[in-house]
Amino acid sequence: MQIYKVGGAVRDRLLGQPVTDIDWVVVGATTEEMLAKGFRPVGADFPVFLHPKSGEEYALARTERKNGRGYGGFIFHASPDVTLEEDLIRRDLTINAMAEDDQQNLTDPYHGQRDLEARVLRHVSPAFAEDPLRVLRVARFAARYAELGFTVAPETLELMRQLSESGELKALTPERSWKEIARALMEDQPQVFIAVLRECGALKVLMPEVDALFGVPQPEAHHPEIDTGVHTLSVLEQAALHKQPLTVRWACLLHDLGKGLTPEEEWPRHIAHEHKGLKLIKAVNERFKAPKDCQELALLVGKYHTHGHRALELKPSTLLELLQSFDVYRRPQRFEEFIAACEMDARGRKGLEQRSYPQADYLRGAATAARSVAVQPLLEKGFKGPELGEAIKGERLKALKVYKSASSV
Ligand code: CTP
Repeated sequence: MQIYKVGGAVRDRLLGQPVTDIDWVVVGATTEEMLAKGFRPVGADFPVFLHPKSGEEYALARTERKNGRGYGGFIFHASPDVTLEEDLIRRDLTINAMAEDDQQNLTDPYHGQRDLEARVLRHVSPAFAEDPLRVLRVARFAARYAELGFTVAPETLELMRQLSESGELKALTPERSWKEIARALMEDQPQVFIAVLRECGALKVLMPEVDALFGVPQPEAHHPEIDTGVHTLSVLEQAALHKQPLTVRWACLLHDLGKGLTPEEEWPRHIAHEHKGLKLIKAVNERFKAPKDCQELALLVGKYHTHGHRALELKPSTLLELLQSFDVYRRPQRFEEFIAACEMDARGRKGLEQRSYPQADYLRGAATAARSVAVQPLLEKGFKGPELGEAIKGERLKALKVYKSASSV
């Protein structure tokens, strides 16, 4: 049997990027031979094994054919007579379809190296269409390598467009899609992921609520970039520049969905968009089965981001309601993430990226003031049950009044 390094490990070594995990392909072997060498099978029908020591993935060279819709619709053909070239041709991109032996001799039948040099993401063959997840993968690679100057080849974009129009994307499971989305959002230029999905028509299928924001104007005085979709991309860009976690990036992407519902005659104003957007945010959250912390933050940011921006003008009672809604006493981290998302929203406006955001420290100070109320003295006064709750709230309100007047001096 011959063993080759394939895929991302070869690509990233040639690009001079850090290699995180290594995939191997094995030519000329049978399942029985792999098992005899101590490899552990990954799945029942899947010709992939884990190395007994390193735990790295070793796949038997295979061809793949599709016999139905979705991810279940694959049949694999793995046998010792499948060649390396046959295995490589079914892969997604030319830059991912190179193999390397233990002497670092490159097998590159589909010119991956040429495309690496030309900074092009190009599909290998029509077999690309066998897995619609690849539409998301290409958009993710575009986001990851945007910094290096990579773009999607026009013919690949066209194929992605056809796949998006065919309805195949709808067959993807939420879990597979979410994994790609989450990874893409954590790249350095996540806005490129959304832009590429939009360009090939996939955004309209996957997240029509986000797609609908393009072409929707906002008041120029607050939003010099005007377009809500453009603004959303900038907010995401800021979130990545400021190294925000996934929860914040997800919330940034979804915070303005309500603006897509504003009747045209109300443009460029978006009255109550925060509230209107909640059902859309919920729908997107559920469509991809986003993790609970992402779902929660997206809904809270959707509902309260304008409160964040107006923090300095809020009455102490409104400020208290905001803090209560976030349960800042038990969930301080979530409130920090809310503040971060609001700040990214403010910075994601054309020409205002560097403007300071005093609301952030003001909100932090308010949370500290409310949190500083001690419960013990109230217990000692004999408060219990709901009365105790009211008494604590009353004390917090007092603390916020003091905080607000002290801050406005
Ligand atoms: N691959 C593919 N189609 C997919 C998934 C994977 O063709 N839908 C192939 C590609 O050749 C890819 C390899 O399998 O390079 C390994 O896949 P994976 O580990 O998911 O990605 P990497 O390319 O290693 O990239 P990353 O750095 O994102 O892990």
